[in-house]
Amino acid sequence: MVSISAIERVDTTADDKAHGLPGAADLLRARYGADKVALPSAWNDTLATILSHRSVRAYLPTPLPAGTLELIIAAAQSASTSSNLQVWSVVAVEDPARKARLADFAGKQKHIEQAPLFLIFLADLSRIARIAEAQGLHAEGLDYLETFLVGAVDAALAAQNAVIALESLGLGSVYIGGIRNRPEDVAAELGLPPQVAAIFGLCVGYPDQTKFGSVKPRLPQSVVLHRERYTTNVEAEALDAYDDGLRQFQKGQGMGDSTWRQLALDRVKSIDALRGRDQLSNALHKLGFPLR
Ligand SMILES: Cc1cc2nc3c(=O)[nH]c(=O)nc-3n(C[C@H](O)[C@H](O)[C@H](O)COP(=O)(O)O)c2cc1C
Repeated sequence: MVSISAIERVDTTADDKAHGLPGAADLLRARYGADKVALPSAWNDTLATILSHRSVRAYLPTPLPAGTLELIIAAAQSASTSSNLQVWSVVAVEDPARKARLADFAGKQKHIEQAPLFLIFLADLSRIARIAEAQGLHAEGLDYLETFLVGAVDAALAAQNAVIALESLGLGSVYIGGIRNRPEDVAAELGLPPQVAAIFGLCVGYPDQTKFGSVKPRLPQSVVLHRERYTTNVEAEALDAYDDGLRQFQKGQGMGDSTWRQLALDRVKSIDALRGRDQLSNALHKLGFPLR
């Protein structure tokens, strides 16, 4: 497997193909925006798919082949799920008018309308509530923040399995957190019962290769990987390097020249930056989640 510390430490620009590891060095270089990376000691198609990930925001109108949705959902359902409770569901939307309304709720994101398939992943406590009700019980554990979080985590794990599966099939996707801007409108549009809430959307389709972005570099591992105990010893220096690299990347992609620090702060510096999601806990209460 990839030796994590070696990726940052070892100084090699050797051609990966010479080592029988197609794509490994190129993909690791792209993922970290680094000139030099260590070659991993193992490599396979699964790792290549995962490290090649990029969000897709421009799609061809080509429909998905028959059976693809079901295959993607089988991959999603193969993810681990807390206590096997499976407290998530997904709504698949293909109707152009419904996609347009959802796009409007999610901040007028055009790729929602353009993608042939829009999946909305849900935290779904209603199934267990119905089982309890049928037995004359009130399942009071469902009223707690903990159980909502279980649903949100389950939904995320399932969706990411779906993303890996669809990328392995040559499809592309982008998550849509904007679906949480107006949770009650989304619930009404999708006919969600109480105790069900949209956690995020996922646009799915064949990428328009003329607008296919590059792999976006991530933070250096020295920032996110802590060994034994949490430390910030190298954080400032590593963030300086990442800010420089990401600014160059953004410029190259025609996405402005902000640093990562600036982009991150822009998303949290004011309530306005939350785009309506400052009201999320109120909306969730109304959708049947007391969140005690
Ligand atoms: C939960 C979640 C919500 C997101 N919401 C949006 C969104 O509403 N619109 C969008 O264009 N991208 C959205 N993204 C995509 C991120 O911006 C993207 O993953 C990030 O910039 C890294 O880029 P990459 O996926 O190409 O590596 C979201 C990603 C996640 C994980």
